[in-house]
Amino acid sequence: MQEHSKFKQQVKAIYRLMVGLFSLFIVAAIGILLLLFNPEWTSKKEVKIEQEYVAIPESDDFDKIENGIHVRTGLIDADGLMTVVNNCTNCHSAKLVTQNRMNEERWIATIKWMQETQNLWDLGKNEAIIVNYLVTNYPPGKKGRREILSDIQWYDLKD
Ligand code: HEC
Repeated sequence: MQEHSKFKQQVKAIYRLMVGLFSLFIVAAIGILLLLFNPEWTSKKEVKIEQEYVAIPESDDFDKIENGIHVRTGLIDADGLMTVVNNCTNCHSAKLVTQNRMNEERWIATIKWMQETQNLWDLGKNEAIIVNYLVTNYPPGKKGRREILSDIQWYDLKD
């Protein structure tokens, strides 16, 4: 009788072992299936932020002055430079400013013309600063374009 119950116990032990192994197998299988179909299940979602790098010049480089010239615009470095840069290079190239030579009256008239026809804003207190800058640095006397030719040696065309 003892033999018999010992055998029974052994069978029970093996049975439990097998049930245990089987449930382990099921759990493992479910885990593998989950991983296969949904790999992000375990790992934390990485939020990828794509960064684009745009070459922005260093701030002190941006308004660099070289040989008395504001490099970015070609304007002469003088009192009121940045006011002119900030108000007069938004719509057109600063070249349009630097290639012109005018007296105070005509600079003011040009600004007024732009205000009336080209949507130039009211310059307020800056107008005096800008006009002063323009008249000082771009007056009519200074040559903006090449000089008129002189001493030309003309020759006669023969027919
Ligand atoms: C709101 C836009 C705008 C701003 C800001 C602006 N301009 Fe102009 N400007 C224009 C337009 C548009 C023209 C005509 C451009 C063309 O003919 O190609 C012009 C033309 C000119 C001309 C040429 C005029 C001519 O008779 O040929 C000069 C000089 C000029 N601007 C100077 C300035 C100055 C100085 C400032 C700063 C106070 C300034 N601009 C700001 C729009 C602007």
